[in-house]
Amino acid sequence: MSTNKVRFLPDDITIAVESHETILDAAVRAGIAVKSSCGGAGTCSRCRVITKSGQARVNSTGKLTEEELARGYALACQTYPQSDMEIEIPETSRLAAHQVLTSQGQEFDQSITPTEPLFKKIKLQLLEPSLDDHVDDMSRLYSELNKMAEVDSPCIDLEIIQKLPQTVRKGNWKVTVSLADIKGRTEIVNIEPGWDYKKYYGLALDIGTTTVVAHLVDLESGESLGVEGTYNKQAVFGDDVISRIIYAVEHKKGLEQMQTTIITTINELIDNLVEGSHVDHNDIWYITCAANTTMTHLFLGIDPEYIRLEPYVPAFNSINPITAADLSIKANPKARIYCLPGIASYVGGDITAGVEVTGIDKQDDINLFIDVGTNGEMVLGNSEWLVACACSAGPAFEGGGIAYGMRAMDGAIEHIRVTPGTLDVYWETVGNKKPVGICGSGLIDCISTLREAGVIDRTGNFLPLPANERVQIIDGEKLFILVPAEESGTGTDITISQTDIKDLIRSKAAVFAGVQTMLKTVGLPVEAIERVYIAGGFGRYINLHDAINIGMFPDLPLERYKYIGNSSVKGAKMALLSKEARREAEKLAEKITYIELSIGNDFMEEFVSALFIPHTNVDLFPSIN
Ligand code: FES
Repeated sequence: MSTNKVRFLPDDITIAVESHETILDAAVRAGIAVKSSCGGAGTCSRCRVITKSGQARVNSTGKLTEEELARGYALACQTYPQSDMEIEIPETSRLAAHQVLTSQGQEFDQSITPTEPLFKKIKLQLLEPSLDDHVDDMSRLYSELNKMAEVDSPCIDLEIIQKLPQTVRKGNWKVTVSLADIKGRTEIVNIEPGWDYKKYYGLALDIGTTTVVAHLVDLESGESLGVEGTYNKQAVFGDDVISRIIYAVEHKKGLEQMQTTIITTINELIDNLVEGSHVDHNDIWYITCAANTTMTHLFLGIDPEYIRLEPYVPAFNSINPITAADLSIKANPKARIYCLPGIASYVGGDITAGVEVTGIDKQDDINLFIDVGTNGEMVLGNSEWLVACACSAGPAFEGGGIAYGMRAMDGAIEHIRVTPGTLDVYWETVGNKKPVGICGSGLIDCISTLREAGVIDRTGNFLPLPANERVQIIDGEKLFILVPAEESGTGTDITISQTDIKDLIRSKAAVFAGVQTMLKTVGLPVEAIERVYIAGGFGRYINLHDAINIGMFPDLPLERYKYIGNSSVKGAKMALLSKEARREAEKLAEKITYIELSIGNDFMEEFVSALFIPHTNVDLFPSIN
């Protein structure tokens, strides 16, 4: 084993790298965020780097072309330096800012009035002792607290009791008591002398696999002081929850690394929020967090291994609040962190939050909630019953596994149309930049428009067409040129291939099969669904007509669909500002029945039937010709 120096360009960062360490791991250590959709398995080819000098041992070259290899390209996760090296990391291989969904969408955007926040400060006037009244300080405090109906014998730390005699006298028997909700119990977390207390704030967090969003909230008024969002820095360990679990389990200190990374991501958001709002970190006293089950485990540093192993059991679904100090979160060290309860290994607290936001558990009509990402999580039901499932939609809608797929970042094609006959292409990109790839919503449009333009058939195969420069065979594979090299931002053609189309059809089939399996379980037809709530960042840009056209969503009138934005952070905010909402979240998670799709044949049968555009059974899509 030898140690060599690797210089990363254009950053000009040089670090020592052992010969058994990959360039990808070294880049992570150097603080450079490199795309790593497959988590270093060598299958996604997202971690392309260029060897400028030096020798390396290369395990695999994945999907790199002969031309790329000749130009020095290598996969960072498969390359081990054997001498001093210079490595260039091109812009296209770096994680960049996403379109992060920070708002809630439509009527779900109104601010919430705090009814009973999970943290509050109250002013108390204690009776001063005298020779005729020897009651101890603590009893004086509890006696005043007990007069307030909502506070019933709260717990108190020894550290606070130790300071109590000085505190009450310094305030001349006037004190401000800080009360935090600990899942139904009340705890005294601080006592200040006097009534001139500092304002206090809370944080509502949505920890997504791809992005993280934080709202800073004034706990007295309920007002949002700021919203910040960024990509989850754990993305360097893989795009989806399974890659992250594998990394956490198989790497020495992998879990610790994963936890530190998400905490760094959150702390940076907090820094930005407090700076923008002129708030002190120490005045953040409560944090609520909605996340999928894997993210919650990784955030708390709890082993996620059994989430992915049969019978798919998480370490916990619901957990008592812990302190900010426990996790090194940049808030008051005594601030409590409450994670919204999950339902199962693949249906987490973010879904509980979303269902609570929609209120489908209080309605007589049957409604469907869908959050589509690499996993499609969905809940169906009404006030009497609720069922949930998670289908593995795969990374295609996040751009993973698709040759020119990408997330919704600047330059991603988000909408596209192909004119029948001429096959002219019209597109719109995120940020109105030159196209560099195509994101999930663009891919759905793409399949729909290629089908409508007669380029592909119902199975997704290319149809024989009159000669057209848009349709080409390269390296034995048929593909359609969406953007020619001269118009693209990469200087190369942006294409969609037969393989890409088949991958997308599998992803859309998984989502629809999930819906069908739930309907079948409860013995209801599609038409029974009164309303469909679409949540999440990806859902924001979906063209519903196209999503129905390709058979991804049920063929229901468009007015039955409602986009609800980031319902995860909204649910976290609801819980932060209302003990009742927090209680409801716990009840809701217990009430929802989880359907494990890997058991029985229903899901597989539905999946196979959905591998057509829109479906094998066209009767399910009466509005599609
Ligand atoms: Fe290197 Fe996927 S191929 S991270």
